[in-house]
Amino acid sequence: MTAVADTAVFEPVTFIGDHLKRHCGMSFREHNLDDLARAVRRAAAQFTAGDPLRLAALLPGTEGEQALGWLVRELTIGESYFFRIFEQFTTLRRVIPTLHDEKVKAGDPEFRVWSAGCAAGEEAYSLAILLRQSLPRGTPGRVIGTDINPEFLSRAAAGEYSSWSLRGLEEHERAAYFEQTGDNRFLLRADFKTGVSFRYHNLRHDPAVVLVGGALFDVILCRNVLIYFEPDMAAAVALQLAGVLGRGGYLLFGPSDPVPAELEGLERCEDNAGIMFHRPFVAPPVTAATRQRRRPKGAGRASAKAPPPGRRTVVTRPAAVAPEPATPVDAAALRRAEAHLLANRGQLDAAVASVERWLSTAPTSLDASYLLASLERRRGNDGRALELLRQCLYLDPCYVLAHFATAEIHAAAGNRDAARGGFSNTLDLLANLDDEALLPGSDEITAGWLKLVVNGRLRRAETEAKR
Ligand SMILES: C[S@@+](CC[C@H](N)C(=O)[O-])C[C@H]1O[C@@H](n2cnc3c(N)ncnc32)[C@H](O)[C@@H]1O
Repeated sequence: MTAVADTAVFEPVTFIGDHLKRHCGMSFREHNLDDLARAVRRAAAQFTAGDPLRLAALLPGTEGEQALGWLVRELTIGESYFFRIFEQFTTLRRVIPTLHDEKVKAGDPEFRVWSAGCAAGEEAYSLAILLRQSLPRGTPGRVIGTDINPEFLSRAAAGEYSSWSLRGLEEHERAAYFEQTGDNRFLLRADFKTGVSFRYHNLRHDPAVVLVGGALFDVILCRNVLIYFEPDMAAAVALQLAGVLGRGGYLLFGPSDPVPAELEGLERCEDNAGIMFHRPFVAPPVTAATRQRRRPKGAGRASAKAPPPGRRTVVTRPAAVAPEPATPVDAAALRRAEAHLLANRGQLDAAVASVERWLSTAPTSLDASYLLASLERRRGNDGRALELLRQCLYLDPCYVLAHFATAEIHAAAGNRDAARGGFSNTLDLLANLDDEALLPGSDEITAGWLKLVVNGRLRRAETEAKR
């Protein structure tokens, strides 16, 4: 018999904090636990009649989406301002023209820039202003700002700010970039909005490769976002960002972001303002001699102590092995990434079409069949979802989430025996897993959470059977 999870020791605020960490990287320690507890109380009042335990049980499932979105909006911190960390923009102003020349020679003149965790758009628009000033007129260019908080994204699209967001600008810059529209309201001039777009993207889960259709970025800024993440999650995000950085590109973090000291294939550049990596445009084989030559005098031990004052950018450590130039991602990976992204965003019809394209090339992909089944359920097509789940279980009889989803569909249809059988199968499979283990088919649902939910379902089924 499977062990029953003990709800008496289940602490909702801790559980919800852990879930938020898995969902979007946010981590809660002593200094912000009170904020979390307050937000949980308010979310419970709004979504689960004041019951935080019910809120905790609801969150990882599809019925918890609204409450989860509410908590994310409540807890994300959107502090930003134009040309924040000015020194990094000075460095970019210096290196961008050379990178552009190299790209033109290589036949890829379009300049692609990403502000990841863009808050209300201050960073993305600063980059757009910089590109306008640094690249020849008429250069094709795109700036994409992404964030997990839809309210910040709406404000970004509007492009209107108070003087607090403009505090890093000189008076003449403020006049050149903005039009005053009211008391302490400043609207970015239309010229600087050209080529800039904003969209929802969760750095923890959403693939980056789809943002510019499989192309790679020339400049990526992800500053003061990972500072809220645990180091292992920050490292995973940094790796993902490095994977979509094109040849010759620059990847910048804030000074306190907990990113790894090295990222494969990139050179680490450090100045006194923040952290910067560069992917060499041409990748010569790295030998001891070239390594020595690339390291400027006195920079050999620079990583052991704080870098010296001054704005000069210093290459401190070339990658151990010369990287292959980054190449665009292959079509199958792109299709998979696109399907997950659309599903995460709730664009169900587009997501279904995308998974079907993916399945046509990979008919035995469990991941694809399970994702399609979940989408069909969300669209109300339970019959089709059951068929797909059966296919999953035929390919892998131990696919826990497929057993659970099958049982849920039977329970909703009032097929009590089938539902009870499905929930019991789920519990039997879960018994072999650690509570912390993430289940295949999801990167958020843990074995512990599912045990809790399934036990609840079985108890409810017993009560109903006695009536
Ligand atoms: C302090 S702001 C930094 C804004 C800007 N990058 C800067 O340095 O001025 C952090 C931003 O990261 C966003 N964020 C937090 N977790 C995220 C995630 N998992 N995916 C995408 N954005 C996230 C927050 O919503 C917030 O807008």
